[in-house]
Amino acid sequence: MCGIVGYIGEKQAAAVIYECLGYLDYRGYDSAGIATVENEKLHLKKDAGRLHDIEKKMSISKLPGTMGMGHTRWATHGVPNMVNAHPHTDSKNEFCLVHNGVIENFRKLKEEVESAGITPVSDTDSELIVHVIQNEYSKCKNAEEAVRRTIAKLQGSFALVIMHISERKLFLARNGSPLVIGFGNGEMFCASDVPALLHHTKRFTYLEENDFAVLTKEGIRIENKGKQVERKPVEIKWTAEMARKEGYKHFTLKEINEQPEALRETCEQDLGGVVAFAKKFRRIHIVACGTSYHAGLTFKYLVQKHAKIPCEVTVASEYSYAEIVDKDELILAISQSGETADTLSAVRRAKGKGMKILALTNVVGSSLNREADMAFYTHAGPEISVVATKTFTSQVAALAMLAFGLSGEKKMEEEVRKAPEFVKKILEKQGEMEKLAEKLMGKEDFFFIGRALAYPTAMEGALKLKEITYLHAEAYPAGELKHGPLSLLEKGVPIIAVAPSGETASKMIGNIGECKARSATILALSDDDEVLAEADIPIKMPPVPEPLVPIVYVVPLQLLAYHLAVLMKLDPDKPRNLAKSVTVE
Ligand code: M6R
Repeated sequence: MCGIVGYIGEKQAAAVIYECLGYLDYRGYDSAGIATVENEKLHLKKDAGRLHDIEKKMSISKLPGTMGMGHTRWATHGVPNMVNAHPHTDSKNEFCLVHNGVIENFRKLKEEVESAGITPVSDTDSELIVHVIQNEYSKCKNAEEAVRRTIAKLQGSFALVIMHISERKLFLARNGSPLVIGFGNGEMFCASDVPALLHHTKRFTYLEENDFAVLTKEGIRIENKGKQVERKPVEIKWTAEMARKEGYKHFTLKEINEQPEALRETCEQDLGGVVAFAKKFRRIHIVACGTSYHAGLTFKYLVQKHAKIPCEVTVASEYSYAEIVDKDELILAISQSGETADTLSAVRRAKGKGMKILALTNVVGSSLNREADMAFYTHAGPEISVVATKTFTSQVAALAMLAFGLSGEKKMEEEVRKAPEFVKKILEKQGEMEKLAEKLMGKEDFFFIGRALAYPTAMEGALKLKEITYLHAEAYPAGELKHGPLSLLEKGVPIIAVAPSGETASKMIGNIGECKARSATILALSDDDEVLAEADIPIKMPPVPEPLVPIVYVVPLQLLAYHLAVLMKLDPDKPRNLAKSVTVE
């Protein structure tokens, strides 16, 4: 997803913006640019490619002026090239803007712009906005009013930063795409995500849906639907160091290794208030995407088994087709970023029908938290890599604590609190997983199987592998193999069996046997000697309490995916075609 940074203060804006954009690298981009204003003159440089290459070629960080904006673009309308890169300007070079999101009524805007005699130079929907602003400005001669009138015409999703050469102000608007405001001393910032600004400030506020704001170096004025609103900044505990690699080759590896700490922080919280809130409901319906969805599946298993509370888990983008309006049902929305458009849209739909929302996110103050009636958190720190690792295990831990809070099983809660120790131990397997990755080089199809809690774990393992190695990986409930997928098995196809001891072990042995009979290569993760004896490649695991199975067993799978990606000379931090925060539906 695109990244935005805006600055207004006393420093040279381009240098500040260039540095901050570097911290949004993880969002993925294919072109970038910066624009500044000095002495009522616009300076703008942009191009396709990586930030540091653009810097080498055209020194974008040296543009003059103490107010400006920058953008990293992830192409949606129009190919990645210099013309389509942001910022965009109007034909007189008076207004300039950066945009995240998708403008749905761009055809109508294009007609409006062209009928005013303006020919857009790019293929983007974003450029049209700046021409509409100029058009409005030619009528009202007031920059703020022109921006306001233009925003009223936009349909779709947007986070916008706009400036005019003769005003010491940045105009901001949000609808569907996040925009965070950073408060400095005598300087103000805005960005699409907190890590971009952490080395400048810890004080943030988020713009909310339909906010229009004016940023000066002294502060911010926010309006929502014509009414002025106050939003106090919140202090964020994350540090700038947390958003750096600190000697690790990749953020993915750093974040895998940060799991014991993330789990410790997450397990320390007291969920008394959240449990009391959730207890009022007869059923729980989880909405989430990707990894967060897998964490939701682990909760379903625990809360149904232990608290006897019926639980449904729906991929957020499918919620609207499956919704039930039942005031006895609590919507539990899980999202690392708290900004995922599909999850937010499911939540808003449910809220619109009068349902109550409980949110689990990793980002204090995110859109999802603000939509929710009650929120709790994973305390995993910023996750920079596109692949979720430490936030998955932290989500599972937080959800397990909620499940045992609801079942009233204090002892089980204590078991969850042991997660950091188990994960610390399992991280010693890094060398073993690296060697295993070497053995698996050249394989193109992977099947992950599991039962009960090990099934969402297998799903998460398969997701990691496909995300960062681009290899084909699928997960199945082990019992489902014989209903179709067995036909795919051939000699040497790797089957990764997540098979802890306990109620599922003997059935897993049977399923492994089915695969062996088709000459597949079995990798089994287990603490059960009988299971391990069946495997071509046994991966010995320690015995773990049942609720810790997803947390502990996913770690070797994360490491396997990571090492395979590295061996394949791929960048695990920035998988192709993917973005950290998916802010479009
Ligand atoms: O921020 P969210 O948890 O809402 O994100 C949901 C998914 O986009 C996310 O988990 C995605 O699947 C990850 N890249 C998985 O590693």
